[in-house]
Amino acid sequence: MTKPHILQAGPYPEWDQVPLDAAFNMHRYFEAADKTAFLAEVGPQIRGIATRGELGANAEMIAACPRLEIISVYGVGYDAVDLNAARARGIRVTNTPDVLTNDVADLGVAMMLMQSRGMMGAETWVRDGSWATKGLYPLQRKVWGKRAGILGLGRIGFAVAKRLVGFDMQIAYSGLGAKDTAKDWEFIADPVALAARSDFLFVTLAASAATRHIVSAKVIEALGPEGMLINISRASNIDEEALLTALEAGKLGGAALDVFEGEPKLNPRFLSLPNVLLQPHHASGTFETRQAMGKLLRDNLNAHFAGQPLLTPVL
Ligand code: 8YV
Repeated sequence: MTKPHILQAGPYPEWDQVPLDAAFNMHRYFEAADKTAFLAEVGPQIRGIATRGELGANAEMIAACPRLEIISVYGVGYDAVDLNAARARGIRVTNTPDVLTNDVADLGVAMMLMQSRGMMGAETWVRDGSWATKGLYPLQRKVWGKRAGILGLGRIGFAVAKRLVGFDMQIAYSGLGAKDTAKDWEFIADPVALAARSDFLFVTLAASAATRHIVSAKVIEALGPEGMLINISRASNIDEEALLTALEAGKLGGAALDVFEGEPKLNPRFLSLPNVLLQPHHASGTFETRQAMGKLLRDNLNAHFAGQPLLTPVL
């Protein structure tokens, strides 16, 4: 039996690449110098696309593959997949939920602590000898007991909130509606009102056209000069221009960000800001979780081509 042809949008670790190469004919789109020519050449035989959360599969890619049956995403976010194009042709879409939830929540909480307690600067204080020459490190802001807002109480938002309970924080959340599983936490529908009562605002929403710039200039202003924004979702959820302007003007206290518009080439204005913690979109980046994500991506592809039910279907 011939192995199904799969278009591979981006690189995977060796432990995923080896079994993918064994089971499928993998076509490495990301290595092609001329992407359009590559798609025109291999597109007609492609039956699956293996992609990553931030890479997705756009309309051009989908249109170039007339025999496409499935798009398997390595990541929980599928906002970069053109779902309308997939739906119109009955193409299945899968993602990798659950296996990454706790790592993403861990990183979000770690970012809050690092930024609020000034740990990056404190590390430099030790390494550059300031401790010996200048004395005690400047005082920072406490975290425990403060007010946390969770914008999007899905799997990841819930895991963040659970962790924050351990810091005795006063938790409120926003989303499509109040949840039975969150009775101890306050539901505040309006993101501006949520930001206004929060010291720390976590953005944990699944991104879509509907949530674009939900963290608007108004939300940022409401969070205010003492507030901190933590984004572990997608850059599109935030009006980045408004965020940069507020950070530069001291109208927002700080931000801790794992995702950026145009990443990995982020806006250079971020690099000169002292009040931000910048992370390279690695919230799910542990050996354990990435191995589980890779396995789930392959299990979905294998199930599809064996005619079995998909494990984690989106469409
Ligand atoms: C990436 C992510 O997929 O889960 C998501 O939606 O964005 C991440 O886990 C990861 O960086 C691998 O590319």
